[in-house]
Amino acid sequence: MVKAAVLHRYGEPLSIEEVEVAAPKRGEVKVKLKAAGLCHSDWHVIEGKLPLPLPIVLGHEGAGIVEEVGEGVTSVKRGDHVVLNWVPSCGTCIYCRTGRPDLCEEAARLTATGTLPDGTTRVSWQGKPVYQFLTAGAFSEYTVVPEQAVIPIRRDVPFELAALIGCSVITGVGAAIHTAQVRPGSTVAVVGAGGVGFNIIQGAALAGAKQIIAIDVVEEKLAMTKTFGATHTVNAREDDAVSAVLDLTDGIGVDYAFEAIGRPETMADAYNMARKAGMTVIVGIAAPHETVEINAFSLPSQSKTLTGSWLGQGNPPVDYPKLLDLYAAGKLKLDPLISAVYSLEQINDGFAALTSGQNIRGIIRFEG
Ligand code: CU
Repeated sequence: MVKAAVLHRYGEPLSIEEVEVAAPKRGEVKVKLKAAGLCHSDWHVIEGKLPLPLPIVLGHEGAGIVEEVGEGVTSVKRGDHVVLNWVPSCGTCIYCRTGRPDLCEEAARLTATGTLPDGTTRVSWQGKPVYQFLTAGAFSEYTVVPEQAVIPIRRDVPFELAALIGCSVITGVGAAIHTAQVRPGSTVAVVGAGGVGFNIIQGAALAGAKQIIAIDVVEEKLAMTKTFGATHTVNAREDDAVSAVLDLTDGIGVDYAFEAIGRPETMADAYNMARKAGMTVIVGIAAPHETVEINAFSLPSQSKTLTGSWLGQGNPPVDYPKLLDLYAAGKLKLDPLISAVYSLEQINDGFAALTSGQNIRGIIRFEG
């Protein structure tokens, strides 16, 4: 039997259950989880904002050790250290074929079904199937995922830090480096100083931005943004964020503005902070029904680029090892991202800390 945190009903705490995790089938890999991050996307499912089939094992920012491989698996073997990839791209859809595995149609389908590609899951509880969030289902001692969902990594990075690469780090750093392609000497504003926001800041710093303005409402988080390379901070509880950014940029606005919260109002703010012909990148996840209000005249007259970024427009097999090499070389900061470590049994405390805004990143460490 395997311990897993299962969501039975929206709005209820996760319950720690003894589940069954089957052997991997052809093209699948069984992973013994060592660490899993608590992400806002998991919380959105718990609160019912992202409706998915239940019961489900959440968790998608995970790292662990390959326990067993199914027939035909060639990229990993038993004992390999891996980071989970929650966009296991198919390699054959129009997006995969045109260099955008982050937008893979098959991975998007699996997000909606909560299953592996064959429509079933390997996790069950009391004889009934349990769905797997983003194929990962990482809040479990073991999981079985498609081969594309595991990325082999170097062995000298602690699992807690490696896990972060698979969601908050790729999402933030990738938004700055892949999506915006921040240029050396440019100006940047980041709305939302959390796990993803910090990584947008350090991505922009890695790319050589000269001015990085961090915006949030929590003073301690703003203070921490300096660790990652922010040059200025704005507390949006005290000052109007858009006016503050304009003041800091001689009334022009920034070259690149990012939103990492997922609220329509702050998305509009990020749009309004960008200069004419500048770029706004939306990274935060809003609920499916929400809309953003943007001045219609500004669209042609200010000619800004408004775009989004999913998984940091990343290509996990290439990017995850590279990001861990940057960490090992002292160029990427991972340690300060973790603000609390929990056991699987304490997972609901972790989500309480996440929703109260206390945590940068809380992480589950699995025993044994
Ligand atoms: Cu995530």
